[in-house]
Amino acid sequence: MAALGDAAEHRHALYELNKTCSADIPERGEFYTLDEYLAQRIETPTYDPRGVVLAVDGGSWIGMAATSIRPEGHAFSEMTGVLASHRGRGLSLAMKVLAIRYARSRGMRWLRTLHHPGNTSAIGMNRRLGFVDEEPRPAMA
Ligand SMILES: CC(C)(COP(=O)(O)OP(=O)(O)OC[C@H]1O[C@@H](n2cnc3c(N)ncnc32)[C@H](O)[C@@H]1OP(=O)(O)O)[C@@H](O)C(=O)NCCC(=O)NCCS
Repeated sequence: MAALGDAAEHRHALYELNKTCSADIPERGEFYTLDEYLAQRIETPTYDPRGVVLAVDGGSWIGMAATSIRPEGHAFSEMTGVLASHRGRGLSLAMKVLAIRYARSRGMRWLRTLHHPGNTSAIGMNRRLGFVDEEPRPAMA
């Protein structure tokens, strides 16, 4: 995102990609409006366009992996998504390897994430990358 330009039209494109991918998260419910997304996910102290990895196919954005650096001292995998047309090709793994590189470049030793317990593809993806379960903590509930 930083390389492409953290401009308004790119933030809008990120919103559309995130919205489309999030529709496949079990029980996700209604997604943010654009204004809500900008306020709650982008215009925040933890947003860093260097931490937003994009997969682009012929000019179309088809995948994203967004990582933030949390004040608690760890990196957090905010959202990984690939359009249904492009799934099953290893794109999420490729993007998250770059996300891990970003977290390391920021001095982080831990990368955390959360997902719905029924989200089998996301859980499989993260286990494939080496994520391990953690006891739920009140601060992350
Ligand atoms: C989860 C998601 C990002 C995976 O993207 P993808 O590019 O298709 O995944 P990959 O091809 O890189 O697969 C990586 C690994 O994930 C696991 N995986 C992927 N799809 C899976 C599925 N349907 N069921 C079980 N495991 C799956 C596998 O372990 C796979 O590794 P392998 O092929 O070596 O076995 C994609 O399904 C998606 O966008 N889902 C909707 C959004 C979402 O739920 N995001 C996570 C929010 S927490």
